[in-house]
Amino acid sequence: MQATIIVAGVPGVGKTTVLQELEAVAKERKVPLQIINFGNVMNELFKKRGVEIHRDHMRKEDITLQGKIQEEAARMISKTPGNSTLVVDTHMFVRTNDGIWPGTPRKVLEALDPSMIILIEADPEEVARRRAADTTRYRDSQKLEDAKADLQWSRNMASAIAVLAGVPIQILQNQNGQQRQSAEELLKIIEKRT
Ligand code: AP5
Repeated sequence: MQATIIVAGVPGVGKTTVLQELEAVAKERKVPLQIINFGNVMNELFKKRGVEIHRDHMRKEDITLQGKIQEEAARMISKTPGNSTLVVDTHMFVRTNDGIWPGTPRKVLEALDPSMIILIEADPEEVARRRAADTTRYRDSQKLEDAKADLQWSRNMASAIAVLAGVPIQILQNQNGQQRQSAEELLKIIEKRT
């Protein structure tokens, strides 16, 4: 059966950057894996319902609608064809207008059925700096104290999910300029688990 690995990280931690490197490293080493961005799938599903919005605005939509789309996205992802390991690029939590909301509530978790959770982290100072420097995105906050709180929330949510799913958590650092090394480390963790 196809193994699914959840890779999560707070906005601006560099998760997408590390996953792009992972794709390149996996190709070089001929390791079959597919990387799916949960936000992209949700954005397409919003579009299908006639809601054309920027990916950074989805979290501000009505929470009931977000919840429906979140579940639908998880079901779609779970039906991805092929036998290669599935790496799901997502969030442990999302800051909505209604509060902090789990990225993988029970039904989403059941659909994805992950065999492990990998949290990408960086120093909070670095996360705040990356958020401020990346002008292509709409970030909720670029303050250091918010980066620290987000990193903590991410771990809190990961703990809850790990208990429910009975799976391990690994924490991977994405230090400044070290995205390639982080991707190599990530591939090693994935290969060991699948
Ligand atoms: P998503 O696309 O995952 O949003 P995001 O986390 O904001 O993604 P980013 O790509 O901006 O952040 P990143 O941490 O990957 O940073 P990046 O690599 O760009 O999700 C979009 C939306 O989808 C969410 O807001 C939510 O609404 C929805 N969503 C997703 N999953 C969901 C779920 N499960 N449930 C409900 N909703 C969900 O890097 C940032 C910057 O840092 C860049 O400038 C980069 O060049 C730089 N950088 C990165 N690494 C390094 C490094 N090692 N050294 C120096 N610079 C670096």
